Amino acid sequence: MKSLDLFANSKLAELDAQHLRRVLAETAREDGIWINRGGRRLLSFSCNDYLNLTHHSTVKEAAIAAIERHGTGAGASRHITGNHLLYEVLEGRLARLKETEAACIFGSGYLANAGIIPALIGEGDLLLIDELSHACLWAGAQLSRGRALTFRHNDVVHVAELLEANRKAHQHALIVTDGVFSMDGDLAPLNELAALAQTHDAWLMSDDAHGLGVIGGGRGSVFADGKKATVDLQMGTLSKALGSYGGYLCASKPVIDLIKTRARTLIYSTGLPPASVAAAIAALDVIAADPELAARPLAKAQSFTRATNLPLAQSPIVAIVLGDAVAALEASQILEREGFLAVAIRPPTVPAGTARLRLAFTANHSDEDIARLARLVRERILPMAA
Ligand SMILES: Cc1ncc(COP(=O)(O)O)c(C=O)c1O
Repeated sequence: MKSLDLFANSKLAELDAQHLRRVLAETAREDGIWINRGGRRLLSFSCNDYLNLTHHSTVKEAAIAAIERHGTGAGASRHITGNHLLYEVLEGRLARLKETEAACIFGSGYLANAGIIPALIGEGDLLLIDELSHACLWAGAQLSRGRALTFRHNDVVHVAELLEANRKAHQHALIVTDGVFSMDGDLAPLNELAALAQTHDAWLMSDDAHGLGVIGGGRGSVFADGKKATVDLQMGTLSKALGSYGGYLCASKPVIDLIKTRARTLIYSTGLPPASVAAAIAALDVIAADPELAARPLAKAQSFTRATNLPLAQSPIVAIVLGDAVAALEASQILEREGFLAVAIRPPTVPAGTARLRLAFTANHSDEDIARLARLVRERILPMAA
């Protein structure tokens, strides 16, 4: 056997022994909440399609019309010939929504974070990152070659200490956090972080992948308190509540101009298919036309946490931490037997010892189904967590 295959097999055996091997399950999504998997129809609480817009008729029609008009692919990176006219429309819409001067669309949220951070931070600079930040923020931090220091989750006192001790020895400093934490569902203390950033001449970046469309009246976690927090770099994705694909950054015009000329993941990657951009624009239209829609996923999550006596949900994401991977897999199977899909989340996606069920509530989940899920979680899953 080739040494490469031997290497792969021994790695897989290690993962198997720890119940950490992942395999892709073929999944047919029906309508935004129902899925078919392994021959079974299940009600999904694992899709990030918070507003169920992946299957919304006007969003689909916009994508189809874009294919007819512009073709299926961008044909090249945005800097070559891939910058079709829908980009300008979407960038303008996002900048207005986020109250920034400009915006830049990337091929995905992951590409955005892997491109933005190294374009702004380099050797001799400081980067402070929440310990529970998403993997792609870590990827951007590592690519940047700045000095990355981790702060305890949502601990602004720790951020202040790290800035006091380290800021002066570095030219620039960037504080990086999820706005809505993807695996826990809690919100970052953006106002406090912004105040610290201002005091220490640091920049603040938040990743609002799970906030756009569902928090702050749909404008994202930067607007969670009703007015805008001072966040210099508002990053997010089109792939969750907007039901499409692609990432974005909203910021001042000079910053966006710099990103457009320096972010390697923008320059050296093909532009998004026109259909993805058109779908995101149509999704923003749907959200703007129905002011109640954006509030529904959070209201559903809160009805679930009330019914289960879990801490009140701050976002549509609710985590039920079970500890080891085997327990999380077992809990997922219990729910699956009852017709619910709640995928087990295991390390390294979450820290060791905190494997969990991560539930994502969406606008179209019915109150009856949520009540049934809550009963099951109360009776069968929470006792496992105790
Ligand atoms: C917090 C966070 N940031 C970024 C991403 C990456 O976004 P995308 O799926 O568009 O690459 C995700 C989702 O996977 C996420 O949860």
